Amino acid sequence: MTGPIELFSREHPAFVHVPLGLVVCLPFMIAAAYRSRYPQTWRRMALRVALVALGGGLLTMASGLYWGRLLNLIPAGRLLPVVSSQGQALQRTLRSHEVNALAGAVLGILCVLLLRRACREPGDARWTGACLLGTVLWAGTWGYVGKQGGVMVFGDAETNKAAAEAINAKKNDAEAELPLRALDYASLEPLQAAPFRSRAHGGREARSWVTASGSDALAAGRPLPVGAYAVLTTWTLGLPGPLHMREAKADGTQAFALYWPRVPEGERAAFGGEDSVYWRSPHPALEACAGCHAAGKARP
Ligand code: HEC
Repeated sequence: MTGPIELFSREHPAFVHVPLGLVVCLPFMIAAAYRSRYPQTWRRMALRVALVALGGGLLTMASGLYWGRLLNLIPAGRLLPVVSSQGQALQRTLRSHEVNALAGAVLGILCVLLLRRACREPGDARWTGACLLGTVLWAGTWGYVGKQGGVMVFGDAETNKAAAEAINAKKNDAEAELPLRALDYASLEPLQAAPFRSRAHGGREARSWVTASGSDALAAGRPLPVGAYAVLTTWTLGLPGPLHMREAKADGTQAFALYWPRVPEGERAAFGGEDSVYWRSPHPALEACAGCHAAGKARP
């Protein structure tokens, strides 16, 4: 169900134009007071417009905060996004966007107070001058906030580059979501004639499968040659257990993977409490694998 608050929040990029448009008018209205035959009318109108702009701006800021939480950019119960790395261009821009919006609101309050003073002391041109300066700063600050909002909605050179890099990294990593080669173990050569009980891997029934390039080496007790990989499938009473993979990389290191899409309740404690795991090197939980399977060494 989409409630009115949610609807209002999702339309944040549209509503921002209302307070911003009003604030942009203010310096012109105050400047008109200098030339008009009715300067006090212009000042009073400017005060009213400033009040509406400030109120609208505060509502818009609330809608932005709500929207940021709806999009999971701002954690629930917090006012600012968490920026945990420099690569998070969107979160960084959002944080600055919020801080600047707040600075603009403070300037807005100041301008309202100045305008009230200018209305009360029409004879003193200095108050009107201060209003002119204040509203220019207010419009400039919120204008910049709007520009940052545009960057977040449409992207700029930096954010679009970061997004393209993330997509490319995923494209070049065919196994980002599933261990495709390990799941295709039936295309590899079985290392044993029959399943065996593997005490090293949780006492489950197991069987190893190796690429043709690695089967002779493993059978002869030599380390896996570069590019070769082995898979260890496991079962408990016919139910699939974790799928293991070990690969010899070109740089002389080994990569490990462990995939168990349905961890039974009783086993979760040993798998970080997860109900589904897909771990890949350098995941810290796989350090134990390297403890037994040292790089460049024969099979344990
Ligand atoms: C306690 C030592 C030990 C640990 C820890 C261990 N392994 Fe093994 N692994 C072995 C032994 C021994 C074998 C040979 C088959 C057997 O006895 O289970 C083996 C076989 C394998 C194989 C198939 C054959 C081969 O040589 O590659 C794979 C793949 C594998 N392990 C992956 C893993 C992964 C992934 C982990 C970490 C999640 C891991 N292992 C943790 C000892 C271990």
